Amino acid sequence: MGGTETDLNPQEQVTAANKAFEQEFERFVRFTGETAPTGLSLAEATAEERALAELRTRHTGKKSAWAATKKLIGRVEADQRAAFGQLVQATEAEIVAKLDAAEGNLKQLIEAHRTARESIDVTLPGRRSRYGHRHPITLLRERIEDIFVSLGYVIEDGREIETDFYNFAALNIPDNHPARGTQDTFYTTDGFALRSQTSTVQIHAMQRRGVPVRMIAPGRVFRRDTPDPTHNPMFYQVEGLCVDRGITMAHLKGTVGEFLRRMFGADTVTRFRPSYFPFTEPSAEFDFSCFKCKGSGCRICKNSGWIELGGSGMVHPNVLRTVGVDPEEYSGFAFGLGIDRMVGLMYNLDDIRLLFENDVRFLEQFE
Ligand code: FA5
Repeated sequence: MGGTETDLNPQEQVTAANKAFEQEFERFVRFTGETAPTGLSLAEATAEERALAELRTRHTGKKSAWAATKKLIGRVEADQRAAFGQLVQATEAEIVAKLDAAEGNLKQLIEAHRTARESIDVTLPGRRSRYGHRHPITLLRERIEDIFVSLGYVIEDGREIETDFYNFAALNIPDNHPARGTQDTFYTTDGFALRSQTSTVQIHAMQRRGVPVRMIAPGRVFRRDTPDPTHNPMFYQVEGLCVDRGITMAHLKGTVGEFLRRMFGADTVTRFRPSYFPFTEPSAEFDFSCFKCKGSGCRICKNSGWIELGGSGMVHPNVLRTVGVDPEEYSGFAFGLGIDRMVGLMYNLDDIRLLFENDVRFLEQFE
């Protein structure tokens, strides 16, 4: 064995270990006074605390020189053992006391910094918190949902990104069908389509729930329409679907009429005009008597007395077959309406593009 340790007797080793500690501890002596020194930042105090913890491990830990001196007790002559033991204990107590004092002081400093940082100046004027508002489209969507839920409909959540199958083929719109042109949408590079109508949810709902089914599906749809006061490339629709045994056009007219009466008042009149949609047969567009002038003609209804709302019809047998439902046994109706234009009419907006400009001055007017 070589090295200085073995050349020293046990007492000398205790002194040497203590001296080594004292040398390293010197920079922390300033933290052992009654009060902590001033002028240290929080970052500096935290760094010092960490360095002190490392020093503690180095000098009093299991692998430290100090731990080695304690093992020397057995090597001391029997008559000197008690005195040596006391020396070791006393020196260790001193070291630990110094470490504890510095640590306490540093902790106090850090605490003081944190308290100062978190303290509140109660003399400052308060900041008024501003309440958010629900978007007018959300407000209307929720009203529509409430009405249909009370009529026994469930609310379906659809997907905004669709395959060609759900957006077109399953809705009886094969390749090269002209309806693909009027509902041209946006595609991802790998061929998925952003849905151009919520009618896609008819397919998902029947696949998932089977029939009979009564559901509405509100949601965002996309079309390659150039923005203008009544068009946006992204807008909201609500789809409705009811399939059961013995469903007829009378149920469609009754349901849409009831919805519009609850929405705009008991005297609201609904009218259906023949139309064409590939996924319904027969198809009809529906209008309701103007909520403002009650049919006599005004600026909102462009003097016609009627407001156009959406499309509807009896679910096409091909659509039922696509989802494995026998059109001989089941029949159903579907309808779809655009929410944005309705919001525009109800709140007298000149331009539905305002709905997505995110101008707080505009949005905070709705409650
Ligand atoms: C449809 O989308 C059919 N899916 C409706 C339907 C459902 C028919 C179920 C039959 C059975 P249409 O393309 O007409 O139909 O659109 C419906 C409504 O969406 C319109 O009445 C209008 O309010 C709204 N809309 C259409 N394009 C835009 C646009 N670019 N910006 C804002 N709203 C629009």
